[in-house]
Amino acid sequence: MTTLTTAPAPAPVAAPVHDVAPVLPVVGADTLVPLVDGRQVPYANLDVAASAPALEAVADRVTRVLPLYASVHRGAGYLSQVSTALYETARRTIGAFVGARDDDLTIVTRNTTDSLNLLAGCVPADPVTGEPGRVLVLDIEHHANLLPWQRSTDATVVTGGPSVAATLAEITEELAAGVATGRPYALLALTGASNVTGEALPVADVVAAAHGAGARVVLDGAQLVPHRRFSLAETGVDYVAFSGHKTYAPFGAGALVGRRDWLDGGTPYLAGGGAVRRVRTAGTDWHEGPARHEAGSPNVIGAVALAAACDELAALDPRVAGEHEDALRRRLVDGLGALDRVEVVHVWDDAVDPVGVVTFTVSGYDPGLVAAYLSAEHGIGVRDGRFCAHPLLGRLGFDAGAVRASVGLGTAGEEVERLVGAVRSLVIEGPQARYDVVDGLWVVVDDPRPVPEGSGLEGLLATAALGADEAFGCLPDDV
Ligand code: ALA
Repeated sequence: MTTLTTAPAPAPVAAPVHDVAPVLPVVGADTLVPLVDGRQVPYANLDVAASAPALEAVADRVTRVLPLYASVHRGAGYLSQVSTALYETARRTIGAFVGARDDDLTIVTRNTTDSLNLLAGCVPADPVTGEPGRVLVLDIEHHANLLPWQRSTDATVVTGGPSVAATLAEITEELAAGVATGRPYALLALTGASNVTGEALPVADVVAAAHGAGARVVLDGAQLVPHRRFSLAETGVDYVAFSGHKTYAPFGAGALVGRRDWLDGGTPYLAGGGAVRRVRTAGTDWHEGPARHEAGSPNVIGAVALAAACDELAALDPRVAGEHEDALRRRLVDGLGALDRVEVVHVWDDAVDPVGVVTFTVSGYDPGLVAAYLSAEHGIGVRDGRFCAHPLLGRLGFDAGAVRASVGLGTAGEEVERLVGAVRSLVIEGPQARYDVVDGLWVVVDDPRPVPEGSGLEGLLATAALGADEAFGCLPDDV
């Protein structure tokens, strides 16, 4: 008898997505931007992994709430009471959105970086030696989920493997080694989705490995929470950190949600009013609960905006959102990957269900030039550089950086097609304008593009004009 074996069918190549519509309306979707040839086109915002535009529903909520705004937690006035109620209601909504358990705390922060720095100050010291608690972290992380641990705890950085399976094995082995040597890890800090490739480790396996070794888990949810339904209670994850500005609520709030004991026992994140029960000249009684870490006047508008975004995302059919994102992502990967000289970056060869973040390089062109070209000649916004993930980019061989396109609920298929077409033109014809490096940034030579009317700006080169030392976060070595 002959046994016929069939090779697995290759994955179908993603079809063009011209007709794919956004899932939810975002503010600024129809904003026109100038090109170097004098035309104006709608801005294609393919940089939502850096900062997502506000949902229209979020902006509407902010507009409705602003007339009600007054001091929070500090006033007997009617509007102070309203603002306090709005803030505390927002806190509950934000916690519920990420499946907070009954005893979890929801702390309103500025963003994910703030949240993770806060938690880093709360990891308990080793009960025997009194040394800082041990934290295990992978080299794939955004700096926000690396530097706080290196600064405030006893951090060990493990180099990930070429596959999800190999990386999980490395984590499990290191956790076990901690137990075996009598120096167990207190915490495993992991991204919920890479800000470079959108890939992630399976949360259930990570939680099982960490809890099996007595360690807690914090997820950097900056790129996860805007894209997937996530629940602390369902996954067993101990803490999650995320940002309003990536969750369609760019009003300055983020959140840290998770287990109360460490947060109540940790050093108050900021010393100041609101965090204290009583202050004497000889000592201070600090609050427990969220107030302990929220000194200063709270960002009520930011919290309300983030809660409004949570409400909108919670009301979405996850299947509809998932299909939209999957179609756009697959088209980016296949459309870009099919072009000569274009390489799409992956951390692992077996990752499943990545979110809508796709990083690539175009050989022969500096990533900064590619990004400047996409903006100047096609009205497309992407991010270039090393994405605040230097160890990962270095390990994967992209020390010179790469280009990142990212999509969200407000992305139209046309924008993705425009990017694929623009990169194709770059590969075939090269850029049409002239570009040069000024103070470390690729710019158009004699850029004729005007600044938006009413913006108060004098030119697009604000960062370059400041000089290299003051150009914030835009220099090649920082990106
Ligand atoms: N963390 C943001 C990003 O990855 C800024 O782009």
